[in-house]
Amino acid sequence: MNNQTEIQKRRTFAIISHPDAGKTTLTEKLLLFGGAIQVAGAVKSNKIKKTAASDFLEIEKQRGISVATSVMTFEYHNLLINLLDTPGHKDFAEDTYRTLSAVDSVILVIDCVKGVEPQTEALMEVCRMRNTPVIVFINKLDREGRNPFDLLDEIEQKLNIRVRPLSWPIGIGFTFKGVYNLYDHSLYLFHANRKATAEDRIPISSIDDKLLDEHLGNAVKQLRDDVHLIEGVYDPFDKEAYLKGDLAPVFFGSAINNFGVKELLDTFTEIAPPPGPRPAEERMVNQYEKSFTGFVFKIHANIDPRHRDRIAFLRVCSGKFERGKFYYHNRLQKEVRFNNPYSFLANAKSVVEEAYPGDVVGLYDTGNFKIGDTISEGEQLHFKGIPRFSPEIFKEVVNADPMKSKQFEKGIEQLTDEGVAQLFTQPQGNRKVIGTVGELQFEVIQHRLLHEYGAACRYNPLNVYKACWITAKDKLKMDEFIRFKMHQIMLDKDGHYVYLADSSWMLDQMMKNNPEIEFHFNSDTVQSSARTEKV
Ligand code: G4P
Repeated sequence: MNNQTEIQKRRTFAIISHPDAGKTTLTEKLLLFGGAIQVAGAVKSNKIKKTAASDFLEIEKQRGISVATSVMTFEYHNLLINLLDTPGHKDFAEDTYRTLSAVDSVILVIDCVKGVEPQTEALMEVCRMRNTPVIVFINKLDREGRNPFDLLDEIEQKLNIRVRPLSWPIGIGFTFKGVYNLYDHSLYLFHANRKATAEDRIPISSIDDKLLDEHLGNAVKQLRDDVHLIEGVYDPFDKEAYLKGDLAPVFFGSAINNFGVKELLDTFTEIAPPPGPRPAEERMVNQYEKSFTGFVFKIHANIDPRHRDRIAFLRVCSGKFERGKFYYHNRLQKEVRFNNPYSFLANAKSVVEEAYPGDVVGLYDTGNFKIGDTISEGEQLHFKGIPRFSPEIFKEVVNADPMKSKQFEKGIEQLTDEGVAQLFTQPQGNRKVIGTVGELQFEVIQHRLLHEYGAACRYNPLNVYKACWITAKDKLKMDEFIRFKMHQIMLDKDGHYVYLADSSWMLDQMMKNNPEIEFHFNSDTVQSSARTEKV
């Protein structure tokens, strides 16, 4: 098979949701339908419950699970599907943002009782940054949820995306009878006491088909009214708009009852995009190019603390990745070779000989990789688009054992390379600030520093509202601002200047009073401008 056929076969995606909407359940059901697992319950939830914030055994266990389920590959309808896992805990939201840079589309799960929740909005914002195509699955239809039209309105308004229902619920909660598939005109009846199977599909000629009356009785009138309204209000499904990330098709179902899952998977395989071109800072990289390129989007530490090696997850973007071949590590500017790269077919880790665009390869790493690193063949390239956002909690991290300062430095450096948290350091001096999305990471760092590096740390609270990356066209103005705000200026891991604002008011003032300085709220735009300056 040539590269082109291999690429066309691949669908690489992630399932995202606010915690508890049903991501784990849906993942498991998709794997079940895809034949990747035989029994329900095989995919363990990688959620760390709130109450377990200080239960380190739990953290260790979760790390083990998430290595195993980082990439789940299965075949379905002659396609090779790579499902990339995202963490369930909100404190690990940054991990999810990074994984989103490695997928070609997503399925977004929404709980029909709760509607759009804060994490749903944050995740969608990241999808919109890259125009990632999104399919929405409204879950838990067996519960007394909200009116489906209201839910669709809420999605359009809060998530800032047009929607088009492709299936429609008949009743909800106690009166839930099933769904009508508007895309391929079929009816699926819900049976409360048994799981749905592939044989449950009843083909229907049109919404006026008498078969509907037979199966639905009185409920058919409401369905016909709803469908007429949908056809009047929404334009027909436009696949091009979906592929551009402008329009989200919507499905309704109940993951726990297998309900609506097969239709979702069937439509996904029909409309979801294969791997496409990717922007690098230097140029656009086409997936069909002969030379291999890829980037690291996730790094996972070994769960055995005695071995400090890690697994770096690399998404292949073009060409063919081959085991044992020399490739160029663009940040370290040296040749590297991987003798035991891993793939994740059918949930079993196995050594891979070759991989194609859309695939994810697990590389053993002894500290050579940072998130965002590009590996290429014959050309220097830097893939764009692993954005970092301002953390929400900031603390100064201090070495608590002067005898172990080397271990402390190495530990902090490597843990933040892995993306556990963001590290900011003072341009002059050695002051270190750790920024995270949640409290849990501070405990994770303290625990792992001690157990994996033998170092101890303590934290000093800081009054920081937001971190903003700063750039300026005029170097003198930049130097002046840095001198003026010396105590609040830090460097991120890539050597970019960051301003730590102590309040929203102060940030506004700074922006108003320093029009020559550009304040960036994510690192995406900074990376390219900084690299241009260096060239
Ligand atoms: P998450 O990964 O998005 O955080 O959600 P997860 O799948 O773990 O689901 C959260 C809870 O919602 C689970 O219940 C799960 O069983 C339930 N759930 C998922 N899909 C449906 C559905 O279609 N209908 C109903 N009624 N419930 C659903 P739990 O009690 O928190 O966990 P568990 O003890 O059942 O595992």
